[in-house]
Amino acid sequence: MSEILSREQTDRPIPGGIEVRRLAYSDLPAVISIERRSFPTPWSLAMFVLELSKPSGICLAATRGDELAGYVVCSRYDQVWHLMNVAVSPDHRSHGVAGALLRKLFDEGRGKLPFTLEVRVTNRRAIGMYEYFGFRSAGVRPRYYHDNGEDALIMWLD
Ligand SMILES: CC(C)(COP(=O)(O)OP(=O)(O)OC[C@H]1O[C@@H](n2cnc3c(N)ncnc32)[C@H](O)[C@@H]1OP(=O)(O)O)[C@@H](O)C(=O)NCCC(=O)NCCS
Repeated sequence: MSEILSREQTDRPIPGGIEVRRLAYSDLPAVISIERRSFPTPWSLAMFVLELSKPSGICLAATRGDELAGYVVCSRYDQVWHLMNVAVSPDHRSHGVAGALLRKLFDEGRGKLPFTLEVRVTNRRAIGMYEYFGFRSAGVRPRYYHDNGEDALIMWLD
């Protein structure tokens, strides 16, 4: 997958102090805390447990010092990787944490399968980040988000 990204996007070293590793069940209390501060309709603990239990998925954690700074959850479906969730603690944003997580994810998911995701049409920060990594819009799911009836932008990286 990474061969379709520019060298600058893929080969940039992880910024100092950030480490990326597998997400563990023991991270989930910190994950839930970030999740609740990041989304209007946060995932439940049970949803994270379910994703972590899938052997084919890729769930990664980023730490800065001894704190969990962010995480990404990606599920493998038949012929596609579905980027299900990515969030960074408000205390650690704009320091390259999400970039480090996504680079590691693309590295691990490397192969012929494309990535897809849904994002709120008003989430300009996330859309800009995905476009930076090469994702392109491929339509809208009308009223996808039940809390406010907002549309989802469907994006693909292939
Ligand atoms: C969106 C979010 C995950 C970004 O996390 P972050 O750690 O602050 O992001 P980063 O600092 O790593 O930036 C990511 C990369 O995208 C680039 N980028 C970010 N916004 C960009 C934009 N608008 N245009 C171009 N590039 C952009 C950055 O330059 C960075 O690239 P680099 O690593 O090469 O420097 C974070 O703001 C967040 O958790 N938001 C709430 C949850 C959310 O909306 N998640 C996405 C749901 S679909």
